[in-house]
Amino acid sequence: MQNLSRRRVLTLGAALGLVGVADPARAWAWSSADSIAATDTVTDPWGVWDDATDPLVASLLENGQIPAVNTAFESWINNGDPVPGGLPADLSAYLQRVNGLPSWADQAKLNRGAQFNNRMSMYLFLLYGLGSGIMSTVIPREARNVYYSEGGADMKSRAAKTFTYGYDLSAADAFQPSGHFVVTSNKTRLTHAAVRHLLPQSPAWRAVTDDQDFLPISNGDILVTFHSLGTYVHGRLSSWGIRMSSAEQDAYLHMWQVALHLLGVRDDFIPASWAAARRQSSYVLTPILAPTPEGRNLADILFGLTGQIDLGVTRGFLHEFARYVLSDTIGDWLRLPRDLVARGLIEVGWPAYVAFREGLSPVVPNGFAMFDRLVRGLAMLFLNNGTSATYTPITIPTGNRPS
Ligand code: HEM
Repeated sequence: MQNLSRRRVLTLGAALGLVGVADPARAWAWSSADSIAATDTVTDPWGVWDDATDPLVASLLENGQIPAVNTAFESWINNGDPVPGGLPADLSAYLQRVNGLPSWADQAKLNRGAQFNNRMSMYLFLLYGLGSGIMSTVIPREARNVYYSEGGADMKSRAAKTFTYGYDLSAADAFQPSGHFVVTSNKTRLTHAAVRHLLPQSPAWRAVTDDQDFLPISNGDILVTFHSLGTYVHGRLSSWGIRMSSAEQDAYLHMWQVALHLLGVRDDFIPASWAAARRQSSYVLTPILAPTPEGRNLADILFGLTGQIDLGVTRGFLHEFARYVLSDTIGDWLRLPRDLVARGLIEVGWPAYVAFREGLSPVVPNGFAMFDRLVRGLAMLFLNNGTSATYTPITIPTGNRPS
């Protein structure tokens, strides 16, 4: 665990728009009274994995059945599709049980969330991509898990699969029978269960992992990642002064609550409000952020991938934009080279661009076309992956990164 001082944690939290009282000691003290389950208990989520899924996937891996499962999954795409035939009976029975929305899901809120996603799409893709995506490389366990897992050796394909998840979550019909998100979540949950079985067999991963991470991707780890996505993005949109009604904010949270449930997070860990989410985030996410060699390598590859499409800006500009949305502390950790001219443009131009787009200022700012091309380019990166023939389905891994 990192040993950041309380002051440093507060400063970093504030820079990320994740304000709150942080506790670098990171003892779990978050009462489930503030959760979906609303039970006043304090259970450590770092000691909870996915009992319903892990033993099943472990036995499928041990019996060599995963390749056939992946093949059967190729035609299983829409939420309304029946569970495919030809699966092992225990997997089929499991999927019949989990392949649906939780009883507390509110379809009206999910629909409002979909409209909100649509209205915010440009900002969301930018923030998920350059904010959360790069932040994931300074979440040490996540960076190491990704690096040493099978997908770590082919980040282009891994990024494409992650885009599939983001695209399916953000689609207008994400939770409807014609949407994909419930199925995509189930495939992701099974993938995580496979990683829990496979990574402990990797000598390279075992050599670098911390003692508490002997079994990866606990409920606590998934909550950390949720805060680097939903809570962080919500905080950034607020700090940019973007108009969001309380119903919209509530709907955006609800979408993530359902997403967490579908990934196997227990309801007593899922925050019931943004205030509760921010409190949880202030001591589960901010204090653990730190650089690792694996994370630096992944960040470098991710910047290289965005550099393969023409966003109309230089790589130096992209580095500075990531610094701008994530803080210079994180930029320094990742050793992102400085480009102070680009930074000057961003500091002045981005707030003006947002104000103009949001109708808060009538003045077309300098650099409007450049920012517009950047946000549209990043959105297209997501949308192309989601809609083109190269749609990259999520497949369950059968091994680790080759050493
Ligand atoms: C795989 C999403 C949390 C580690 C995946 C995939 C998705 C995904 C969509 C499938 C894509 C692929 O196979 O590359 C999420 C979401 C999370 C979350 C939405 C939380 C909200 C975590 C956490 C960790 C983690 C906390 C580790 C600490 C991994 C690894 C893979 C994976 C190692 C498999 C890569 C491979 O070998 O192919 N995740 N994840 N994930 N995830 Fe997560």
